[in-house]
Amino acid sequence: MLLINIVRNTIALALSIALMSCGRTKNSSISSADDKVSELISQMTLEEKLGQMLQVDPGVYSSTIDLEKAIADGKIGSLLNIIGAQKVNRLQKIAIEQSRLHIPLIVGRDVIHGFRTIMPIPLGMAATWDTTIVKRAMEVAATEARAAGVHWTFAPMIDISRDARWGRIAESCGEDTYLTSVMTNAMVKGFQGDEITNHSVAACAKHYVGYGAAEGGRDYNTTNISEYYLRNIYLPPFKTAVDAGALTFMSAFNSLNGVPASGNAHTIRDILKTEWQFDGFVVSDWASVKDMVTHGYCETDADAAQAGINAGVDMEMSSDCYIQNAAKLIKDGKLKMSQIDDAVRRILKVKATLGLFEHPYTNESLAEKNTLTLQNLAVAQQAAEKSAVLLKNDGILPLKNNMKVALIGPLANAAHDQMGTWVFDGNKADSRTLKMALESTPGISVKYAAGLQYSRDEDESGFAEARRTAANADVCVLALGEESILSGEAHCLAKLVLQGHQQQLFETLKATGKPVVVVIMAGRPLAISKIVSKANAVLYAFHPGTMAGPALANLLYGIAIPEGRLPLTFVVDEGQIPLYYNYENTCRPAPENNPTSLKTIPVEAVQYSLGNSSFYLDYGSKPLFPFGYGLSYTTFEYRTLQLSSEKINTNSRLTVKCNITNTGQTRGTETVQLYLRDRVASFIRPIKELRGFQKITLNPGEQKEVAFNISAKDLGFYSPNGAFLVEPGAFDVWIGPNAEEGLKSSFAFE
Ligand code: GLC
Repeated sequence: MLLINIVRNTIALALSIALMSCGRTKNSSISSADDKVSELISQMTLEEKLGQMLQVDPGVYSSTIDLEKAIADGKIGSLLNIIGAQKVNRLQKIAIEQSRLHIPLIVGRDVIHGFRTIMPIPLGMAATWDTTIVKRAMEVAATEARAAGVHWTFAPMIDISRDARWGRIAESCGEDTYLTSVMTNAMVKGFQGDEITNHSVAACAKHYVGYGAAEGGRDYNTTNISEYYLRNIYLPPFKTAVDAGALTFMSAFNSLNGVPASGNAHTIRDILKTEWQFDGFVVSDWASVKDMVTHGYCETDADAAQAGINAGVDMEMSSDCYIQNAAKLIKDGKLKMSQIDDAVRRILKVKATLGLFEHPYTNESLAEKNTLTLQNLAVAQQAAEKSAVLLKNDGILPLKNNMKVALIGPLANAAHDQMGTWVFDGNKADSRTLKMALESTPGISVKYAAGLQYSRDEDESGFAEARRTAANADVCVLALGEESILSGEAHCLAKLVLQGHQQQLFETLKATGKPVVVVIMAGRPLAISKIVSKANAVLYAFHPGTMAGPALANLLYGIAIPEGRLPLTFVVDEGQIPLYYNYENTCRPAPENNPTSLKTIPVEAVQYSLGNSSFYLDYGSKPLFPFGYGLSYTTFEYRTLQLSSEKINTNSRLTVKCNITNTGQTRGTETVQLYLRDRVASFIRPIKELRGFQKITLNPGEQKEVAFNISAKDLGFYSPNGAFLVEPGAFDVWIGPNAEEGLKSSFAFE
């Protein structure tokens, strides 16, 4: 027996060394990696295979298992939530030197929008509409994370969401499939690199699939999505992730049409792995395999293991249904060894692609020189500047240096909360707040009074000082919003109005007669119509991260010009939810002039004057601000929309162009947006859909012709069975500044 083991171990060691030669890039010597992985699998015991399919959080399980022994026995293939090159190297050394097959661990972490240098939350990154800065920001995140021993991030989160009550909308790229898909590509490439290097971390497209459609915007809630909407709204960003080379996916918590997403063979095996040929691995979300018992979909953990593996979930995060039950399920013929081997192959290939066989250890000197560098902070500041959206400005902005400023509000000096949700390794001590930035700007006179201690504060005892401070100033900058804890996982809100007495603080400052510039930092689009109607200006920043202060200060003084555009619709009231721009016309669309308040029109008049159509008597059908909306300190004029032809076919393409002029007094950046509509199709299509955008920067008086090329692929949609259909007929096209404005024309597809 001993001789056989010595021979097997020698072969295994030789194979691990051989696998070292094919790490680094996903493309290089993939076939030899395949062969060697196959050879390694042939050496593995079932227990070692199941070990590769288990991910453990040492912090959670330290009491129940001897972690180091389990690693030495090859019973754990991955860890999460352990950071620090030294700590990770110590455990990696056990895996490499003490386990029989010397297979390296892969260490995962939620590096969602930065590791130590925190970028704007993903909703803010999407608001930049700038793939260059988004990719750069994720590169910085990857470099800092890898230097800390992290090999794999659980990002990007690319769940489409149309419900701002859902706390995780903060982590998403908003309501639109096209914008989310574009951001997905940039984020995956940012995390992984165009080629895998030792600064790369494996991306993880999550949460597959439909999580953002939770009923009522309540986290983990039921989702009911027909195949048609799944194919056209929720799945496309995940297909983009596959095409971008994402190495991993994460299955979701939610049930989808009665089947848990983490036990859903249709979405994982049929679509992701078979139809899309995804060759990476799927990890469950935290205990979402075991949660199938809670769902009432599985009787026991063994049933959950069977459902998860049958569905194609390759690695089990946090719960241990697989390692406790799979051997018996195979023995009882309920699972096949080939299913286990496929999962292990996928996991080992990702480890090989990341170069972990070749370089399992992290250079412990890297963290010092790669983390929180001036370059990284500059990227964070630029991202924050580009992510903020100017919603209103009566001309008070940009502020002049000689204006005395009263800085008020619970978010003005919120070092922790400005970083937003899903910040595991960011440190509030690194944050530069708006208060810090203004107070350290030479030549600017600023006096600070909190007014309220935090967003939910109802104690108005600070109002008097706030009023006095405002009365002695030329302008009031009021920083409102929500703390980071009010968005994120399991942190949903039924009401979207400003919490606490923030509205009262705003009113009392307005009553001083001084102009009030409101800066809002939040993890979601809040219902701020009562602020917008009276504020002199409103600058909206989706939790902008470590460098929020300098970024917002630069925007307030015009050193940076606002260029953010909304990645989702702002409702007048949460009662309108779901409200999004790419809706269907319905049989009775609301007329343009439908009311937004009952107070002005008696109900009976509204009912008959507007007829039976799709709107709310009390809030109408229009948003407060539409998707794609955002202002600059200058203005832009769109002129002369031109089409290269009146019709196209599958072999031709249409060029649509428009002239944009900077008609204001300052330089500015405009996000020119292209929308299309398929007027009549075999499945009803939205009244418009974003199909392209370009950012242009123009000096005052400068004009630029912006052109978009449209081909058949831009006109198509998916049938419920996944067929991509491009049907003949009339199409409308817009080029404009947001989803509600723009120049319109039409063409035919033959
Ligand atoms: C959480 C989240 C998921 C995250 C994982 C690991 O429950 O749903 O997005 O990556 O657990 O922290």
